[in-house]
Amino acid sequence: METNPAIGVDGLRQRYGDFEAVAGISFEVAAGELFALLGTNGAGKTTTLETLEGHRNVHGGTVRVLGHDPYAERRKVRPRMGIMLQDGGFFADLTVAETIEHWRGFTPSARDRDEAIAMAGLAEKAGVRVRQLSGGQKRRLDLALALLGRPEVLFLDEPTSGMDPEARRATWDIVEDVVADGTAVLLTTHYLEEAEHLADRLAILHRGRIETSGTVAEVVAGHGDRISFRLPERLQVAELPPLHGARADVRVEGGRAVASYTLPSGTPPSGSPPSGPAADAGLQAGLYELLRWADEEAVRLDGLRVRSASLEDVFLHTAEGAAR
Ligand SMILES: Nc1ncnc2c1ncn2[C@@H]1O[C@H](COP(=O)(O)OP(=O)(O)O)[C@@H](O)[C@H]1O
Ligand SMILES: [Mg+2]
Repeated sequence: METNPAIGVDGLRQRYGDFEAVAGISFEVAAGELFALLGTNGAGKTTTLETLEGHRNVHGGTVRVLGHDPYAERRKVRPRMGIMLQDGGFFADLTVAETIEHWRGFTPSARDRDEAIAMAGLAEKAGVRVRQLSGGQKRRLDLALALLGRPEVLFLDEPTSGMDPEARRATWDIVEDVVADGTAVLLTTHYLEEAEHLADRLAILHRGRIETSGTVAEVVAGHGDRISFRLPERLQVAELPPLHGARADVRVEGGRAVASYTLPSGTPPSGSPPSGPAADAGLQAGLYELLRWADEEAVRLDGLRVRSASLEDVFLHTAEGAAR
């Protein structure tokens, strides 16, 4: 039994010459958990993954994979890791089945060939040469190879980049099964929807630092649910009511004035992170106040929109805030 986290990162620093690419980050990933690292290009995601994969030693801090230093003890840990290569470097003339067979040759306790092919959803392509696969199919073959040895820890660096939405969904299903089987997964992605769908917890990395981390609900809470509608022509901004303490902002969208409220999240029970129903309380109260006001004043709310804060709001806010 492993009592340590499957992946442990404590104060990790990495440099390229004078440039600090990772500036002291810490997180843990447990067995059966998926942790997503998000961040703009150059944030340090790949550098972090490569360090955990044992490709480079740390410049500061410590990293542990399955209780071992992945660089110094690479041979102990590597057989228990699955790594999805960015560019698989396949032999283009081998078929899908031959490629998997080839890799099985040097993977201890490898999955059965047909099981691996089916897992990747490539059963119909088993006899097709790798050069004839689409980009998304090649990525899924990459994933099948990473999973061939039933890894306890899986590293996925932008696994669905370049996939169409259907292939992306299929890949999510595979990854969810792997997590349910108890594998610890560390994933990087540019698709916030992917993180929202898959991640148990996540961190947003910016210039080598973790700006925010937690579950999706924790990260999103407090970033403002929004209510907006077109400003009725006969009204001045000052006549709009405050909603749950928030004042309206007016901006012009498509040639029309739009009133928009960003609501603070509701007060969570003390001691617990703001998330879930408590975080929605502000939105519900604000909406109620708005509808009652509109009814009393006989105001029609054209283009009324109610939107919960999303990971995208937080992501953009983090990137903008840090760019200032
Ligand atoms: N081999 C390298 N030599 C010098 N700088 C590098 C090297 N690899 C990455 N970097 C720099 O380190 C930073 C982090 O890169 P990377 O970890 O690839 O970020 P991400 O995967 O989040 O896009 C970037 O500014 C990148 O230009
Ligand atoms: Mg990268």
